[in-house]
Formats: sequence, structure tokens, C-alpha cells
Amino acid sequence: MGAGIAYAFLAAGSRVTVIEATGEAASAARARLAASVTTASERGHLDRDPAELLARVEVSDDPSALEGCELVVEAVPESPALKAGVLAAIEAAAPDAWIGTNTSSLSIDDLAGSLARPERLVGLHFFNPVPASALVEIVVGGKTDPALVERARTWVGGLGKTAVSVTDSPGFASSRLGVMLALEAMRMVEEGVASAGDVDTAMELGYRHPMGPLRTTDLVGLDVRLAIAEYLEERLGPRFAPPRILRDKVAAGDLGKKTGRGFFSW
Ligand SMILES: NC(=O)c1ccc[n+]([C@@H]2O[C@H](COP(=O)([O-])OP(=O)(O)OC[C@H]3O[C@@H](n4cnc5c(N)ncnc54)[C@H](O)[C@@H]3O)[C@@H](O)[C@H]2O)c1
Repeated sequence: MGAGIAYAFLAAGSRVTVIEATGEAASAARARLAASVTTASERGHLDRDPAELLARVEVSDDPSALEGCELVVEAVPESPALKAGVLAAIEAAAPDAWIGTNTSSLSIDDLAGSLARPERLVGLHFFNPVPASALVEIVVGGKTDPALVERARTWVGGLGKTAVSVTDSPGFASSRLGVMLALEAMRMVEEGVASAGDVDTAMELGYRHPMGPLRTTDLVGLDVRLAIAEYLEERLGPRFAPPRILRDKVAAGDLGKKTGRGFFSW
């Protein structure tokens, strides 16, 4: 997601600094971004010179490179403790930056608790794959500065995407509904009601969803969806309890597209 978000801002003309956890991960991130830019250019999706885009990106494993940034978007894995530590490090490195968190489910108010200035944090929930997705969910915490919400709308518009605003609540609008649909689809496969392919086709053709809930889960990552379901179960009750089939697949390492297998083979 971080690479996709960085690409979106680059393609829109911004200067971008990417921070990874280690030097090795930073090299991989640089290579991934360069490959995205080259592919987009070859497919005619870029109206800018690829070399000019890549000249505007800095990749580092040192958070102090964030100093002077207007906006920092956090996109580390969905762990409250990890995110809290990273958000505090961002605030220390770039005290004047606005901060967006790409969390798919965690409470903005809880995450803001790790900041000295919680009013500078807003949820900026991008969708996968970022370049092809038209939506960003802006999640407004109890302490989020209204001026930041306005800026967020401008940033999202500048990326050529549409924003929806949601008050901070578990799973926001998109994850809460999307995960509920996916969990029910998994339970149906588990109970032998229909195959994964047929469940997805029913939603794609019957309800005009561009992608069924199980293929979407494969794309998002089964581990990511399991973590969200566990969090929603804790906050909203047993209707979000992850089905056994999801736990088993994650335990077996079948995490979806990224590992080659989830509910489908890729
Ligand atoms: N996968 C999706 O479809 C999707 C969609 C919307 C939002 N999200 C959210 O985006 C966030 C990231 O998800 P992802 O699927 O991209 O995860 P991922 O595991 O693929 O990527 C996380 C990245 O964070 C880096 N990282 C870990 N610790 C770090 C640190 N201390 N400092 C800097 N970088 C660090 C990792 O090296 C990795 O590159 C999560 O909050 C997730 O819920 C994911």
C-alpha cells in the first residue's frame, strides 16, 4: 500500500519521501516504485516523463528524512503497537507535518493517543491497488482539526480520487461492510453452500460487484482481513468472528495473491 500511495502522489506531481524499516527494505521499495513508474509509462498511463517522476522521490530508512514534509502517510502493518510507535516517530521527525494513517480499521482516536498533537492526525484509507482505485475514505477522529479534513479533501481531489468522510468508528464504512460480506462468503464456502468461484460470481453478476468478496480477500491478503475481523469482533461483537476456514488458511500460509494461493490459485 505504501508503494501505491507513494506512486499516486508522484504521478500527481508531488515530491515524495518513502521511509522503510531497514536499508534492505528501502532498496526493495525503491525498485518497486521504479518498476511501477516504468510499467505505467509503458502502458500509456502516465502523462509525465518517468525519469522526472523518479527524480522527485527519496527513499530512506531514516525517519529524519521526513523533516519539512507537508503530509506524512503512515502505511505500516495493521498492529496498534507498531502504528503507535511509528506515528510518534513521525511526529518527532516532522513536527509540522499533517499525518494521515492508512489503517483499514483501527480507531483514529486510539492512534492519536500516541501523539502530542492528536489534532494533526486523520485517517486516509486508500484502496488496493491504489493507482486503479477511485476512493479514499477520510476518517475523522474526535480531535482531528477540521482544517485538516478540508486539506485531506483537497489532497484526495489532487490525486484524481473521490473522498468520502466517515466519523471514527470500528472498520469505518468500507471495511465494516466489506469484511462482513467476505466473512459470510467464507462461512458459505465452509458450509459447502457453494464454491468460492460460484459465491463470487453470484455477487459479480447478480449484484454487479466488480470483484467478488473472496477474490477481493485474496487481493487484500487473508492475514490482513483476519486481523481486521479480530479487531471488529472485539469492538462490535461476535457477528465479526473470523470463520475457521480463514484461520486455517492463514496458518497454512495461504495469504492470497501475494503467496500465490488463498481462496483461489493465482
Ligand atoms: N492490503 C490492502 O489491501 C490494504 C488496503 C487498505 C489499507 N491497508 C492498510 O495499509 C497498511 C499496510 O498494509 P499492507 O498490506 O501494505 O502491509 P504490508 O505488510 O504489505 O506492508 C507494510 C510495509 O511497512 C513496512 N514497515 C514495517 N515496519 C516499519 C517501520 N517501523 N517503519 C517503516 N516501515 C515499516 C514493511 O517493511 C512493509 O513494506 C495496514 O494498516 C493495512 O491495514 C491495506
